[in-house]
Amino acid sequence: MNIIQVANISKSFKYQKSRVKALDNVSLYVKKGEIFGLLGPNGAGKTTLLNIMTGMLLQDEGEINIFGKPLSRETFEKMNYVSGDSRFHWVLSPKSILDFYGRVYAIEKNERSERIAKLMQFLGLERVAERRFSDLSTGERMRLVFAKSLLNYPKILLLDEPTLGLDPDIAVRLRKEIARINKKFKTTILLTSHYMHEVEQLADRIAFMHQGKIIDTGTVQKAKMKNVYDINLIVKVGGISKKDLLLKNGFKINKNVLSKSLKSEDDLNKAIHFLSKNKVKINDIEIKKPSLEDYFIKLAGDSK
Ligand SMILES: Nc1ncnc2c1ncn2[C@@H]1O[C@H](COP(=O)(O)OP(=O)(O)OP(=O)(O)O)[C@@H](O)[C@H]1O
Ligand SMILES: [Mg+2]
Repeated sequence: MNIIQVANISKSFKYQKSRVKALDNVSLYVKKGEIFGLLGPNGAGKTTLLNIMTGMLLQDEGEINIFGKPLSRETFEKMNYVSGDSRFHWVLSPKSILDFYGRVYAIEKNERSERIAKLMQFLGLERVAERRFSDLSTGERMRLVFAKSLLNYPKILLLDEPTLGLDPDIAVRLRKEIARINKKFKTTILLTSHYMHEVEQLADRIAFMHQGKIIDTGTVQKAKMKNVYDINLIVKVGGISKKDLLLKNGFKINKNVLSKSLKSEDDLNKAIHFLSKNKVKINDIEIKKPSLEDYFIKLAGDSK
């Protein structure tokens, strides 16, 4: 089931006397329980799309359906939002901030306290529950933002650069939290990020945006293989005995190094199987797979 269906969304902003087309006929879908990554260079339109989904902006054209229904109070209640630059009032404590949002979400008092306690425990915030927001570390602040985003037990989480500017160790922990939230609560996640390894680690499918348009979409693996060069297999061998057979099977030979470009994981398995079947003595093996970074650079470069 497509839990999010974005159909032909366009949005322009007036800026002084000119117009910026931030979204140009964008369509995408996200399936139930999926983590979907929205990629694209600065200004591509990612945040604008998320802002329309949360109801903060109105589109000029097109429609967004959540659980098959147009955006409404009912659909907003099933969602929540995390932004890498979310801020709360500096003097409030995590506990009072969560209580405030619990009231905004109209969660009844006892239930509210129960959820807040559970989420603080889940995200390791108990130790700083009474501390001022201004005194929290960046990592603690982000965990608080996540706790707030889970308060209404959302079915859909929109994450706009959730690990922006965090230390690598905190970012790693937050990524684990995101994966844990997705698994434990079966939350469908739409994520934007400039960290390609983050998207690669978390996302099932991606869409690449450029100047308000989606120019590519698919599973991480397929998108990479379709747009970026092949898998490269490089094998250092003990000696070359069946030179003709190796050449015939597409291997390049350079002294004691064999190499082959492959189109898929399947071809890679076949090549390795071929070497072992022919008793080639392997001293070392290197497999170079295209990364999502290569993909981003290729698509951003192509679209320029
Ligand atoms: N309120 C606004 N008024 C005018 N222009 C805007 C407004 N909001 C966004 N834009 C423009 O719309 C375009 C898309 O912006 P958006 O913030 O959606 O990009 P993004 O993909 O999230 O970029 P980034 O990766 O830098 O966060 C940009 O050119 C931006 O300058
Ligand atoms: Mg943005």
